[in-house]
Amino acid sequence: MNKPENGTMLGRSTAGRNDRTASLLLDWYDRHRRLLPWRAVPGEKPDVYRIWLSEIMLQQTKVATVRSFYRNFIVKWPTLTQLAKAKRTDVLRLWAGLGYYARARNLYACAQVVMGQYGGNFPDTEENLRSLPGIGSYTAAAITAIAYNQWAVVVDGNVERVLARLYTVEKPIVETRPLLRQLATRLTPQDRPGDYAQAIMDLGALICTPRSPKCVECPWTRLCKAHSTGTPECWPRKKTKAKKPRRYGVAFWIERSDGAVILRRRPDKGILGGMTEIPTSVWYDHPLSERSVRAQSPIKTHWETIPGLVRHSFTHFNLELTILTAEAERTPKDAFWCPKRKIKSEALPSLMRKVVALVQTAQNSS
Ligand code: ADE
Repeated sequence: MNKPENGTMLGRSTAGRNDRTASLLLDWYDRHRRLLPWRAVPGEKPDVYRIWLSEIMLQQTKVATVRSFYRNFIVKWPTLTQLAKAKRTDVLRLWAGLGYYARARNLYACAQVVMGQYGGNFPDTEENLRSLPGIGSYTAAAITAIAYNQWAVVVDGNVERVLARLYTVEKPIVETRPLLRQLATRLTPQDRPGDYAQAIMDLGALICTPRSPKCVECPWTRLCKAHSTGTPECWPRKKTKAKKPRRYGVAFWIERSDGAVILRRRPDKGILGGMTEIPTSVWYDHPLSERSVRAQSPIKTHWETIPGLVRHSFTHFNLELTILTAEAERTPKDAFWCPKRKIKSEALPSLMRKVVALVQTAQNSS
């Protein structure tokens, strides 16, 4: 997409002021840009595969968390062709621990589509990128700007915070998204749109941080309305948050006499879809009755309860799992045995790793 003509939307002086604002940020970026493993250094051509992979990993996840996962993926699958040829279970396995597992399933599906329909070359328009699995409007804009240096408006949580402060937007972000997008559109320059997108994200991550913004180091201090109030951290305006509901479940730890443990693959659809689990009950908004535990247990047996609980926070609820253990030799339906020493290499999400850790603590102390 091209930037709307200055003359149609804005007066010349406004357009000039926005260009000066953008160039202050670009000057700052030239001196303070972060060295990130997926980021091209000045003079180098960005690699669209790396940009895509990193942007998918960075959705709702911090740079510090992404670094090691990104490194593991690039070492194992340095190119799109190699990733597309991988087994899906291997991709899910390497993603285990990064969360939001639909991203991994879509990543794999996207690699197949780009190989099958685009001959292995990512499309270079926002519209075509948006048609690919796992690529929404933010990611399509980020890839367009960063990988192809084409004009595109990149608005993520960091950008929203920065703009809400720069212009003291008086309502919470969820209520002002169209306005924030309009402000972002006006500020995005024709010149160096890729660097500009990365610069404003770096500004949000390094300087204009949620709690204590480092305004003295900011290239926009003199323009920033929130800074001029003396309390920039009071923007973006907060929405009163509803408390997260709590859900309850039971995990069934079944061990064989040779020390192997029962694992199960979760259905593709739904939370933790396609990942491996210690068999768990349905998660309810109340603790399970004994009857419900019996009805859902993979085997009929006597269960022991492990001391302690596993707590895990998902985006929309907190979960509390009680762990029941039993010994068995028979294989329950749709499940498989895994030797304990191999559990770590399964596609176990963080919740399930916490279950393994609590069982191990209990077993070591008994
Ligand atoms: N967050 C999401 N994408 C990013 C990028 N390309 N650079 C820095 N932070 C990011």
